[in-house]
Amino acid sequence: MSFENIVLEMPEPGIYLLTVNRPKALNALNPATLGEIGQAVAQVAADGAARVLLVTGAGDKAFVAGADISAMQSFTAVEAKEFSLQGLRVLRSLENLRVPVIAVVNGYCLGGGCELAMSCDWILASDRALFGQPEVNLGVTPGFGGTQRLTRLVGRALALELVTTARNLKADEALAAGLVTRVFPAESLREEAFKMARVVASKGPVAVRLAKETIQRGQDLDLDNACVLESDAFALCFTTADQKEGMTAFLEKRKANFEGK
Ligand code: CAA
Repeated sequence: MSFENIVLEMPEPGIYLLTVNRPKALNALNPATLGEIGQAVAQVAADGAARVLLVTGAGDKAFVAGADISAMQSFTAVEAKEFSLQGLRVLRSLENLRVPVIAVVNGYCLGGGCELAMSCDWILASDRALFGQPEVNLGVTPGFGGTQRLTRLVGRALALELVTTARNLKADEALAAGLVTRVFPAESLREEAFKMARVVASKGPVAVRLAKETIQRGQDLDLDNACVLESDAFALCFTTADQKEGMTAFLEKRKANFEGK
């Protein structure tokens, strides 16, 4: 499938890389770009060989600087609602991909860009990354889930402070707040992201998918029901060849060769 606003490639076996590719507009998300991200997600979802998806922005200036302000400027309320629902739907499909999705944030990560990053499973940042929800500067609220995902990630007080003041967080502050999991020098961010992707891709694929599903589904349940999900996932692993291979390889002191079944 060929795209105009994004690039989807598999540079290494099992590792997909999605690059938002509108560097002249700092990779801003317009409806066409969102549509292409949705198609790319569907493509990765349909590929049983996929193990992990990296999401990044083209150029060294921005991950994504937000939803496209030129596209939104003359929206009616109905169009704004449709755009918001499109963004929410596409970001939710990314979040619901069965394989882990890692945001690789190399610069401005603002508004819809921060919302895109937060719909990934975790965020790796360069030391030059800048995070924020600056929508109130434009007289609007976040529209692609920022009020909800930011609150879940950093807590209500900081989310409210950031969303109502439009203050941006530098990478070190985003790390301290739990918004990102690791910060790397800008020059090594891409290689560090691939290193991490290779680690994920080397593990038991069924176990990785079940772990993601259990963490994701469990976080909205009470602890008792969430732990039932976990024990069911654990038991399901024992139907797989990967469990036999993983445990046998450990006992034979060799590296496991997982086949994802
Ligand atoms: N939408 C459309 N175009 C954008 C954009 C955006 N979100 N962000 C940057 N651009 C464009 C600029 O208009 C500019 O285009 P031209 O060269 O044609 O003039 C180009 O990208 C480069 O940007 P700047 O010249 O502004 O670069 P800078 O280095 O001076 O500033 C910046 C960088 C601080 C990120 C600044 O571009 C900026 O503040 N961008 C807007 C950030 C923002 O408000 N994001 C939230 C959008 S609303 C939203 O996302 C709603 C939602 O939740 C769904």
